Amino acid sequence: MTHTTTSFADAITHRRTIYQLTKTSPISDQKIKEIASLVISQVPSSFNSQSTRMVVLLKEHHDKFWGIVNDILKGMVPEDQWAHTSQRLGGFRGGYGTVLFYEAPEPVKKLQTNFPQYADKFPTWAEHTSAMHQFAMWTALETEGMGCNLQHYNPLPDQKAAAEWNIPLDWSLKAQLVFGGLAEGARENLPKLDKQPVEEKLFVHGA
Ligand SMILES: Cc1cc2nc3c(=O)[nH]c(=O)nc-3n(C[C@H](O)[C@H](O)[C@H](O)COP(=O)(O)O)c2cc1C
Repeated sequence: MTHTTTSFADAITHRRTIYQLTKTSPISDQKIKEIASLVISQVPSSFNSQSTRMVVLLKEHHDKFWGIVNDILKGMVPEDQWAHTSQRLGGFRGGYGTVLFYEAPEPVKKLQTNFPQYADKFPTWAEHTSAMHQFAMWTALETEGMGCNLQHYNPLPDQKAAAEWNIPLDWSLKAQLVFGGLAEGARENLPKLDKQPVEEKLFVHGA
């Protein structure tokens, strides 16, 4: 496996939400698979549940997923809002791939049985576990020159996606990370974010 040499600080600073994507990946499919393998094997989970499942859809599979979302939403979104929705979905479809983040229920149920005192907490911790994988994947892909954005079109496509990619129906879809090459100026034109002063959000005692 090849290792990236970007520092962790540089990687988390470089990560942004990028919507202007292309269908040309700056890295090979093999490298994408390596990054996904690294993330799924090294990112921690609550009580080591290892409940996260990632489905990586590339090229025509990515197109198909966003086609499914498009078809479902077309029947739901009011006509006067459709142009906006359809344009947004077209943007996602214009990328190279999508990572679907699922949580499998079995590991969580097992923990609830084994640790009944935390039973009500495990579903929340499963959400945290998923989020950790999402952040790691997002940051790692952007470190390699990809642009990414995170979406939440769930549970709408769950059933059709399950049928299409042989995904167990009881896996719960949490988020979709869209990724692709950077359209010209996509990173340069990103809005400067309004950041709340660190002192209002970070409190250190004892340093
Ligand atoms: C937990 C979480 C959920 C998000 N959900 C969405 C989403 O559904 N759609 C979207 O376009 N962006 C989504 N975003 C992107 C945020 O709006 C974005 O990260 C934030 O405004 C900071 O901008 P940056 O990513 O460029 O640093 C999400 C981000 C996080 C961390």
